[in-house]
Amino acid sequence: MRVIFCCTDTKAQPWLDGLRAALPGATVELWQPDAVLADYAVVWSPPQQFFDEQTALKGIFNIGAGVDALMKLLLPAGVPVIRLDDAGMSVQMAEYVCHAVIRHFREFNGYEADTAAGKWSYRKPRVRQDFPVGVMGLGVLGQRVCRALQQFEFPVWGWSRSEKSIDGVRCFSGEAGLADFLAATRVLVCLLPLTPVTENILRRENLQRLQPGAYVINVARGGHLVDADLIALIDSGHLAGATLDVFRQEPLPPAHPFWRHPKITITPHTSARTLRTESIVQIAQKIQALHTGVAISAIAGVVQPGKGY
Ligand code: NAP
Ligand code: GLV
Repeated sequence: MRVIFCCTDTKAQPWLDGLRAALPGATVELWQPDAVLADYAVVWSPPQQFFDEQTALKGIFNIGAGVDALMKLLLPAGVPVIRLDDAGMSVQMAEYVCHAVIRHFREFNGYEADTAAGKWSYRKPRVRQDFPVGVMGLGVLGQRVCRALQQFEFPVWGWSRSEKSIDGVRCFSGEAGLADFLAATRVLVCLLPLTPVTENILRRENLQRLQPGAYVINVARGGHLVDADLIALIDSGHLAGATLDVFRQEPLPPAHPFWRHPKITITPHTSARTLRTESIVQIAQKIQALHTGVAISAIAGVVQPGKGY
């Protein structure tokens, strides 16, 4: 069995070493143009040339949860694309989102400013029931985030494409459920995949449906958010602010207004990192399973071509 690794922005050697150790019978190689044809590919944002050349693949493993970069390429027909299924990401996402929600709810930015000014001042406690958190996307990460938020007793709403029933979460679904979901939400968390349907979903028309004083947390993809609409709605006072981890252009260009906006907190696409050890274990187990004839329907994280996630 041959495995080929082609990941931009990733140090290859530790992945090659890890995959070789996890798949002792396999040949694991770094892609270079005109490489020998492989059975399985482990990729992140590969060039189109990779798929043009690798014409014998039986499975494509993405070393992230989001496959939006892959979906822009011309992929070999009928070859399954398998994304990371948690692999240690969901607990990181739960930490990040709870931190952002609590930082906003408890006004820690304000306390930090007071401390810096040598001021000992209390703020009136806020009422938790006034801060329902709406999670867009109830997949692997969204559901884990809902569970974590429930531990802090925030009311939690969720929105997904198909109908869901999740203990303690008021679930909305589809286009028809979006307006009610947004109207009931004070803190919005975006955990959707980026697809042609969800692109620009965080635009004025939708953001202005949120409760007055709402707060936006985008941890999915920069392409979900219309940057100028967010800034206009914060500056008009409809939105209280935002925490953003993902951007249309990464790294965020130095001149972008998000860097300096006093009500926007940014982080460099770090809310849930790919953990190499966990990911290698997961990918190696799935490669072994496919190679020994396990049905693709029994493998978690297979991307549905029609849906794009
Ligand atoms: P997932 O398990 O595939 O879940 C996706 C969820 O979004 C599902 O609940 C799905 O609904 C819902 N959805 C998709 N299209 C929709 C639509 N048109 N309308 C309403 N709901 C829709 O994905 P995941 O593993 O949770 O990851 C989610 C995303 O997080 C990834 O795609 C990636 O972009 C992002 N991410 C970011 C980071 C970071 O560090 N910032 C790290 C990891 C992942 P159904 O349940 O009905 O299918
Ligand atoms: C990171 O953004 C991922 O999709 O895993």
